[in-house]
Amino acid sequence: MTTTATLMDGTRVSRELMAAAKARVEHIIAKTGVTPTLATVLVGADPASVTYTQMKRRRCESIGMKSVKVELGEDTTTVQLVETITRLGEDPAVHGILLQHPSPPQVDERAAFEAIPVGKDVDGVTFGSFAHMWFGHPGFASCTPEGIMRLMDAYNVEVEGKHAVVIGRSAILGKPMAGLLLNRNATVTICHSRTRDLGDVVKQADIVVAAVGRPNFVQGGWVKPGAVVMDAGYNEGNIGDVDFEAVAPHAGLITPVPGGVGPMTIATLIEQTVTAAERQLGVA
Ligand SMILES: NC(=O)c1ccc[n+]([C@@H]2O[C@H](COP(=O)([O-])OP(=O)(O)OC[C@H]3O[C@@H](n4cnc5c(N)ncnc54)[C@H](OP(=O)(O)O)[C@@H]3O)[C@@H](O)[C@H]2O)c1
Repeated sequence: MTTTATLMDGTRVSRELMAAAKARVEHIIAKTGVTPTLATVLVGADPASVTYTQMKRRRCESIGMKSVKVELGEDTTTVQLVETITRLGEDPAVHGILLQHPSPPQVDERAAFEAIPVGKDVDGVTFGSFAHMWFGHPGFASCTPEGIMRLMDAYNVEVEGKHAVVIGRSAILGKPMAGLLLNRNATVTICHSRTRDLGDVVKQADIVVAAVGRPNFVQGGWVKPGAVVMDAGYNEGNIGDVDFEAVAPHAGLITPVPGGVGPMTIATLIEQTVTAAERQLGVA
């Protein structure tokens, strides 16, 4: 493998974020006696979702936070889920709420997300959080794109004035990614499945974010020499959306999969929960 690009080590950077979050947790506890707490809500028993929520709770506990595990049956209705989330929203001991996606098909997931108060929406899934992010107001952005921004910051990637091409326009990834880059004064192009001549568009990018959900999708010939390539993809078998072997010789900086964007997502969730607790408890 001839890699000329610098690897962006999301595992290392996420550890640094977690260490900083731990210090803030200790400060909150010392000042208020209250332990920052994340509630994870899981409907059904999808094995991947069980693992994800467990991982998120463990990461909380690893830095001295509390977590509340809420598990509801596969046949839970929208009304029951909304009631549960509303109760957590009203509970002063809970500072952040995460509803694990996907919910079973009978559940109106949007209605459930919207039951999360914006101030506790540490996963950035509500309309309110999206609006805050889009307008550049303090709030909580969707964790994966926010984590990508933090990883770029850790490697001193200059965003202002750069042409960023985001491949994918999902509500949790592509769209908020574009907003966060725009807020930092990038010139942003959003591509999707109907984009024509995708390779030519990507070739213009100083920063490429791949959020497609197709293994090894971004080709070596699409990437301008020296471009920053952020691979949000996570496909079966630990395969990203970027053909790493083909792209790395062209890129200036590139994220590996695994160990790039993935660890940044959970670290951002934890960090945002700490921020939520600080705001709710009035800790500076
Ligand atoms: N690391 C993490 O923590 C994390 C978190 C979330 C997601 N992910 C990963 O990120 C990837 C994207 O996730 P997502 O939830 O955003 O997926 P998604 O909802 O399926 O969206 C995929 C996007 O890619 C676009 N697309 C699909 N085929 C395309 C093509 N041939 N050319 C151009 N665009 C195409 C789609 O366009 P249309 O809108 O036109 O259909 C859509 O906007 C997945 O690999 C997922 O596993 C990782």
